[in-house]
Order: sequence, then structure tokens, then C-alpha cells
Amino acid sequence: MGGKIRVVTVFGTRPEAIKLFPLIHALEADDRFESRVCVTAQHRDMLDQVLAIAGIEPDHDLDLMTANQSLDELTARALTGIGRVLDKERPDWVVVQGDTTSVLAGALAAHYRKIRVCHVEAGLRSGDLNHPWPEEANRKMVGAIARLHCAPTQASADALLGENVSPASIHVTGNTVIDALDWVTERIGQDPSIAAGLSGLEARFADRRIIGVTSHRRENLGDSMLSIAKSVRELANRDDVAVIFPVHPNPSVRSVMERELSDLDNVALIEPLDYPHFARLLAISHVILTDSGGVQEEAPALGKPVLVMRKTTERPEGVAAGTARLVGTETDTIVREAERLLDDEAAYATMARAHNPYGDGRSAARICDLLATS
Ligand code: UD1
Ligand code: UDP
Repeated sequence: MGGKIRVVTVFGTRPEAIKLFPLIHALEADDRFESRVCVTAQHRDMLDQVLAIAGIEPDHDLDLMTANQSLDELTARALTGIGRVLDKERPDWVVVQGDTTSVLAGALAAHYRKIRVCHVEAGLRSGDLNHPWPEEANRKMVGAIARLHCAPTQASADALLGENVSPASIHVTGNTVIDALDWVTERIGQDPSIAAGLSGLEARFADRRIIGVTSHRRENLGDSMLSIAKSVRELANRDDVAVIFPVHPNPSVRSVMERELSDLDNVALIEPLDYPHFARLLAISHVILTDSGGVQEEAPALGKPVLVMRKTTERPEGVAAGTARLVGTETDTIVREAERLLDDEAAYATMARAHNPYGDGRSAARICDLLATS
């Protein structure tokens, strides 16, 4: 491998794959680096959807996903599996992104070998260890281990400074999600057929406004998930809306949504969409309801009002800019806020403004330069 900088990028879930493919593309195109990809496959089908569209073939695939996997077992298997890969590859850097179990295991396995860790999307904090759970703890632990912190915004850089992280190791790079969204938007522009699979639903719901919904957070499983389902049901009572809801494959999500919503004609419960099709869903939606992290970042970039079904958010920038509103998980509040957007044009117009608090689409290039010079 000569004098090249050896980088192993480790990830396991759909959102990590989306936010890391622009960086992997950049590393592969850059002569300064020898790039390797290790997936834990904490997610399987949802991960593979992203790998396929981004054209990434992992060098190592630990194939760890099991149905209803527990956090401790997944963490343990990921840690030992990634450790074996790192012993073989002996990289200069391990790159991880975000706050999942795969991220924590990747960073810890690297730390145990004294390999430097680059944390992409560093410094997000809700200030509440239970929301999001277990992610708030994961990102704090990775923050304690990483040697290079790529903070998406100044607020996330400030959070790291507040935890006494060395200022020289913190860089505001923007969030690679905007690089990913730009990339997929350009691909759809070149070949609209890659996002044409929703045309049947678009025709069926042509005279209705579409509400796009996603929900999967572990802290929302149980009562809050039921309450989210009931809000969708209540909104679907209106004859001027239709709901398109790609349902997360987590059995604890799927069972509730199917039980509560599958009898409604204007609610389409569908399989998770690949990234071009999800970008299309965002584009055709009038309003988005979500508890997702990534969707909170994409919606402002597209000027789509997003109601965030969580108690707290570590992404205050969208709320401050007015495109996102934190609505919690109570049925009455979700329905009230969604109806306000459906019925009050002025309220809608205030939220429906495209802007990019999370990045400028050039984050991957910045992170490459930091990896080369840090
Ligand atoms: C995980 C992350 C969460 C992230 C989310 C993105 C942790 C603790 N949680 O949550 O931070 O926001 O991914 O979606 O790391 N499943 C499938 N096929 C798939 C993926 C999942 O069937 O492709 C099912 C499996 O039964 C699996 C379950 O979903 O056991 C839960 O997956 P898991 O990765 O443990 O948690 P998520 O809730 O997806
Ligand atoms: N997404 C997707 N298909 C879907 C739903 C979401 O491609 O059916 C994308 C979405 O555009 C965003 C990411 O998945 O980039 C968010 O993933 P998720 O909500 O699973 O995780 P989180 O961001 O909450 O960690």
C-alpha cells in the first residue's frame, strides 16, 4: 500500500450508509488514501439498499443482523467482529458516523488497538440520556474516544468544547447527509426511472395532499408508537389527505402499524424505500411526520415542513430555522400540529422554506482533507 493513508470505514445501519457513502466515494477517488469498508450489517436489507444504489461493495461483511436483536448481544458480536477486521487491516484511521451500536463498537475496537478514530457527525447532544436511547450515550462515548471530531454545525462543535474535547481536534465540516442528498438528486435528474416506483401511489392519491411518515425510535416503542399510529389514523379521517408510510422492519414497529392502520384506504403502509424513492417521497409530501434523525436534516434542505415526533431533538438548527417543529408523541398534539399545517396557509408558508442549516454538500471533501492532515 506504499505511503498511502489507510482508512477503514465501519458502519452497520441505513442512515450511517447514507451519510458515509459520499465520504467513501471521496476516499476512493483520492490518491492519498487506501480505503476499506467494513459493514457490521446491524441492518441487512435496509443497508443493502444503500450499498446497491451507491455502488459500494464492502471488503468485510460481518452479517450480524438477527430479528429483534438485543443491544448487548449485538454490541458484543460487533466488537469482536470489527476487532478481527482491524487486526487484519491495521489501518491508520477508523471512520465511524453517528451514534448506533455499530458506531460504538467500531470506535471501541479501534481504541483497543490504539488506532485513531474519526467521528463523523460528532457533537450532537440532546442532553437527555433517555432521548434518544441508547444513542445519546453512544455518541458521548465515541466523543470520548475519537481523535478527529467532524461536527456538522457550530452548535455541535460547541457541545464538544463544553465536554473539554481538545479544540484542535474539532472541525465544523457540515453534515455529509447534504452531500448524499445532492448526489441522489443529481442521479434522479439524470435517470428519473430510479425514483419512479411510487407512480402508482401518486396517481391513486392525486387529488389528496400527501403526508409522509416514518417512525422507528427505540424509546418510542410501546405506548408512544401506538400513540403515533393513532395520530396517523385520525389524520387519515380527512378526505383531503393520504398517508405514505414506509414501515421500518423492526417487528415492534411493524406489528403496531399493521394492526392499527392496515384497514385504511388512504394509508399506504409500504416497505422501506431505497434512497432515490425516499427522496421522491419527500419531494411529493406536503408535510412530513417523523422521529428520524436524518429526515429532520433532509426536510429543511427540501423546504418540507417536518413535525418531529420526539420529546427532544439533538438537531435544534431545523427548529430554530422554522422548518422543523418538535411535537412529542401525544396523539392530540401531533394531530393538532399537522392540521394546523393542512388548514392554515400562512402557518404552512412560514415552515415551507428551503434552507441548509446542516451543510453545503462539500462535507466529504473537507473530511478527506482533515484525515490527510491530522
Ligand atoms: C438502529 C439504531 C438507531 C438508528 C436506526 C436507523 C441502535 C441502537 N439503533 O435502530 O440509532 O436510528 O437503526 O434505522 O444502533 N430489521 C430488519 N431489517 C433491516 C433492519 C432492521 O429486519 O434491514 C429489524 C430486525 O428485526 C432488527 C430490528 O429491525 O432486529 C431492529 O434493528 P436495530 O438495528 O437493532 O435497531 P433499529 O431500531 O433499527
Ligand atoms: N430513508 C430511506 N428510506 C426510507 C426511510 C428513510 O432511504 O424508507 C432514509 C432517509 O432519507 C434518511 C435515513 O434513511 O437519510 C434515515 O434513516 P432512519 O430514519 O432509519 O435513521 P435515523 O436517521 O433516525 O438514525
